[in-house]
Amino acid sequence: MYKVLVTYDMFREGFTELEEKYEVTFPEGRDFTYEEVWNMIPEYDVLCSMFDFPVNKELIDHATNLKLVSNYAVGYNNIDVAYAVQHGLTVTNTPAPVTAPTANIALGLLFDVARRITECDRKLRTLGRDMKVGVLENLGMPITGKTLGIIGMGRIGKALARRASACGMEIIYHNRHQLYIEEETKLNAEYVSKEELLARADFVSLNAPLTPETRHIIGEAELKMMKPSAILINTARGPLVDEHALVDALKNGVIHGAGLDVFEFGDYPLPELLEFDNVVLTPHIGTQTLETRIEMARAVSNNVIGFFEGDRPITRVLRP
Ligand code: GLV
Repeated sequence: MYKVLVTYDMFREGFTELEEKYEVTFPEGRDFTYEEVWNMIPEYDVLCSMFDFPVNKELIDHATNLKLVSNYAVGYNNIDVAYAVQHGLTVTNTPAPVTAPTANIALGLLFDVARRITECDRKLRTLGRDMKVGVLENLGMPITGKTLGIIGMGRIGKALARRASACGMEIIYHNRHQLYIEEETKLNAEYVSKEELLARADFVSLNAPLTPETRHIIGEAELKMMKPSAILINTARGPLVDEHALVDALKNGVIHGAGLDVFEFGDYPLPELLEFDNVVLTPHIGTQTLETRIEMARAVSNNVIGFFEGDRPITRVLRP
């Protein structure tokens, strides 16, 4: 019987079929540490990793029975995919259940920063009747008729484009490859260079994977190319943005605001970001609903079962 090691604590609903078929080890009430996984991994055929669990060269070399890494995420920057594939391993991810919730959070942050929702809520709670209210106060940015620039037009970028289009936004995008014209027409999206996107967009949303090429895709130079009224949204991976440069840009009015669900240095933002009213911060909650958690677990399980039984499609990661 194949042995499956899950590194994270998770609702079991999505794992029922997996547990019926194989011997599955879960941590209880917490995640396994890297050291614990290191000690157990030589006996296991499958590693089910979370997006922040490092599956590095050392672990791969040490995992002498390993055949499959089934990641709980669409992103897989935590895995040395090139090394894994070179060593005959298969790597899978969970794109389908992640797409809509992540696009929804991106749109939510866009609305929140533009219309100052969290800021107003916070001021009402902290200032009460001392909060300045009235028709000339708390003016926000319009959304309808404005231009959204999407960097990374994969599944999530496209899902965001459809939502933003429904809100009456113009969509421009930049991507490794231009989409087919039929798809551009359907999405009502115009392909532009990164420079043109930064210059034209009222809102810039990052929806690209983290790779060596996309690290700091938004740094000091790019922030300077954006409009002073622009709002940056990042729901992808923190290191796409040079967070120190972003703090400076916000301090100096280089851009207007930001909505961030991910941070450059782990689970928490730079403390300076907490000082800005025009910044909305959420702690990587893009897929944080009960339903999505379970659907992602089901996708992880399907990838393991499909890999061994060949009875269903799997979502294999093809390139680093
Ligand atoms: C979440 O961050 C994911 O990559 O699915």
